[in-house]
Amino acid sequence: MIPIHVGFIMDGNGRWAKSRGLPRSAGHRAGTENIRHIIRTSKDLGIKYLSFYAFSTENFKRPVEEVTFLMNLLIEFFNKELPELIEEGARIHILGDLSLFKPPVRFVLEKAIKSTADNDKIHVCLALGYGGRAEIVRAVNQIIAEGIKKVDEESFEDYLYTAGMPQVDFLIRTSGELRISNFLLYQLAYSELYFTPVYWPDFGKESYMEALEDFARRNRRFGGVEDE
Ligand code: IPE
Ligand code: IPE
Ligand code: MG
Repeated sequence: MIPIHVGFIMDGNGRWAKSRGLPRSAGHRAGTENIRHIIRTSKDLGIKYLSFYAFSTENFKRPVEEVTFLMNLLIEFFNKELPELIEEGARIHILGDLSLFKPPVRFVLEKAIKSTADNDKIHVCLALGYGGRAEIVRAVNQIIAEGIKKVDEESFEDYLYTAGMPQVDFLIRTSGELRISNFLLYQLAYSELYFTPVYWPDFGKESYMEALEDFARRNRRFGGVEDE
């Protein structure tokens, strides 16, 4: 079985670079290249939603040079990839607080959102300035501001950045760390989790197919009983 929504915690760019005697920036660049391949492979397989953890609220704690490099890389990524993403029928969504970013970054992100708004072959979410706890608190504050007295699980989802999207079926984290790091806390409730020691820039098609084969062997019960 193929998952509908796959999440990626793209970790290990820095260690990938270090292991090659390169600066961390080289790892980020290689990691960004990889996103393109993952999108293409996913589309070919018929996967409908991808969510990439690209920059967390916590990542603002990194040295200013690294944050600046990552922001410039983001601008470069969209300048280079947007025409192809449009052609492939990908719709771009940003999960996170855009107000945390400087105007040139916001500009390219807003352009990417607008120019892909009518596409629906594959939905590509980039989590930027994203934190799972912050997302939930923001949702609660919006609900209070609207004067709503009661929500249920379904109506609550409308206040998340992923409103209207399915839950994450499969979460892949690269680089060997065994944690969620504040990613999509609400949407991961029943995800199958997959941790691999491979660093993100090396997580190519082969590694991805291996992960998907692992997913296909899982028995998802959602609290029920095992399938025959
Ligand atoms: C992931 O790689 C990219 C971002 C968090 C932006 P890291 O930069 O976290 O790489 P490591 O974990 O230091 O190897
Ligand atoms: C998680 O990676 C965030 C992203 C991939 C954007 P980190 O490298 O920031 O996570 P920690 O610090 O290892 O938890
Ligand atoms: Mg890391």
